[in-house]
Amino acid sequence: MRIDVITIFPEYLAPLDVSLVGKARARGRLDVRLHDLREWTHDRHHTVDDTPYGGGPGMVMKPEPWGEALDAVLASGGPGGPGSPGEPLIVVPTPSGTPFTQAIAEELSARPWLVFTPARYEGIDRRVIDEYAERHELRELSIGDYVLAGGEAPVLVMVEAVARLLPGVLGNADSHRDDSFAPGAMAGLLEGPVYTKPPRWRGREVPEVLVSGHHGRIARWRRDEALRRTSTARPELIEGCDPAAFDRQDRRTLEELGWRLGADGRFGRGSPNVEE
Ligand code: ADE
Repeated sequence: MRIDVITIFPEYLAPLDVSLVGKARARGRLDVRLHDLREWTHDRHHTVDDTPYGGGPGMVMKPEPWGEALDAVLASGGPGGPGSPGEPLIVVPTPSGTPFTQAIAEELSARPWLVFTPARYEGIDRRVIDEYAERHELRELSIGDYVLAGGEAPVLVMVEAVARLLPGVLGNADSHRDDSFAPGAMAGLLEGPVYTKPPRWRGREVPEVLVSGHHGRIARWRRDEALRRTSTARPELIEGCDPAAFDRQDRRTLEELGWRLGADGRFGRGSPNVEE
């Protein structure tokens, strides 16, 4: 997969050299290219921002450097065909975007080429987004309901979430099977607690079932813990689950946690967020 990032702070993306993403790059699984937006400015001060039309606080990123930068980066993919990285998907990190989720990470991980455009200040002149959305696929994505000083940290978040899904990047192909938010048997539930050696630490024992060697009991225990954790931390995920996905023991566990099957066919609780 090829990833281009156009930014005024290429050094902010140094973590892409480290750990899982760094290894994926070293192994040739990821081709990450960082570009300094200021290279596409033509004035002495390398200006990338200006005051907003209509007034108001803050500055807006000027369209010209972004246009030239995107044209150059997109053209570097060649005319398509053999040897080209394929169709680019432009990803614009913004707090006003669609929420970035595991499902979107999976979609992005299937693409051959991602081009990220992290902005600073109040964002990029809208005409840039409109122009490139007309010519290419483009998604505006938010990593959460809070406002950061720029899109670089969101790029780090999204690239890491995507890179770990690429075949051959995590050691074990099963490693993301039980992830919170992954599709599959545990879909819609958060992952429960995990333990490793030693079996006793500061007087705390590992749950007996995990050392029992009994795979059926272990799977059941993990599922009950996932239900407990989801019920406490994210009750709205239980409400959103299709009850057909719950087996008889799931239902028993949910009832112990105060959940009842409602007239609407979904599980609900009288008073939400009550610790059982
Ligand atoms: N830029 C600033 N805040 C952001 C957020 N929450 N998500 C994506 N990009 C952003």
